[in-house]
Amino acid sequence: MRIIVAEDYKEMSKTAADMMASQIILKPDSVLGLATGGTPMGFYKELVNLYKQGKFSFKEVKTFNLDEYYGLDKRNLQSYHYYMMENLFKHIDIDLENVNIPDGTAKDIDEECRAYEDKIRKAGGIHMQLLGIGINGHIGFNEPDVKFEAITHLVNLDEETIEANSRFFSSIEEVPRSAISMGIKTIMHSKKILLLAAGSEKAQVIERMINGPITPELPASILQLHPDVTLIVDKEAGDKFD
Ligand code: F6R
Repeated sequence: MRIIVAEDYKEMSKTAADMMASQIILKPDSVLGLATGGTPMGFYKELVNLYKQGKFSFKEVKTFNLDEYYGLDKRNLQSYHYYMMENLFKHIDIDLENVNIPDGTAKDIDEECRAYEDKIRKAGGIHMQLLGIGINGHIGFNEPDVKFEAITHLVNLDEETIEANSRFFSSIEEVPRSAISMGIKTIMHSKKILLLAAGSEKAQVIERMINGPITPELPASILQLHPDVTLIVDKEAGDKFD
């Protein structure tokens, strides 16, 4: 695992955006795996800035998001569809036909998950996957006690995750209790992984992910076995490891 400790959140975001922009410049038809949440907001801003300098285009890029809340419609302001439109897609020249996010309102969820997995495979797999990490060690919404061999599936969210994500909702009752998420196996099949973490509340989980045992109790620990992971942390999140 390559580890970069950035001076602050802005530098973390910029470093990650530079890496993704390089991926697109070198391979204009890249397949990108994308994440949502608080951490990558600065990253998307920096990526849009680089795009606006005219150095590359998203015309041939395909994207697959990690997850979507179960039951939330695309137009719902808390949905990850909405987040992605606001933070990235409406600012760039991507063909929306090439954008893939699980449909949290699909009638047949099992079929939705199967079809999503199939689409990733048909696209040739993910070249670069962006990840955040939950304070409980989840990646995507693969919560502790995950099955490492799982592919895209419906997951029940942990109380800790519901609590952490309630900051984006007006009350904790509004946070969906489940989500569709790529599985660990799907994530591990990506060629390159870029994991971002910022803030002191992530320091402990980052330390355990790097130095602790590989265990389903800390889903992100499996990344120790991936051949091409770059972890970019700010000083606070990088405070607890040597
Ligand atoms: C988001 C996702 C989650 C988040 C994680 C951290 O698509 O899959 O794993 O990356 O919950 O969220 P933040 O960045 O809000 O701390």
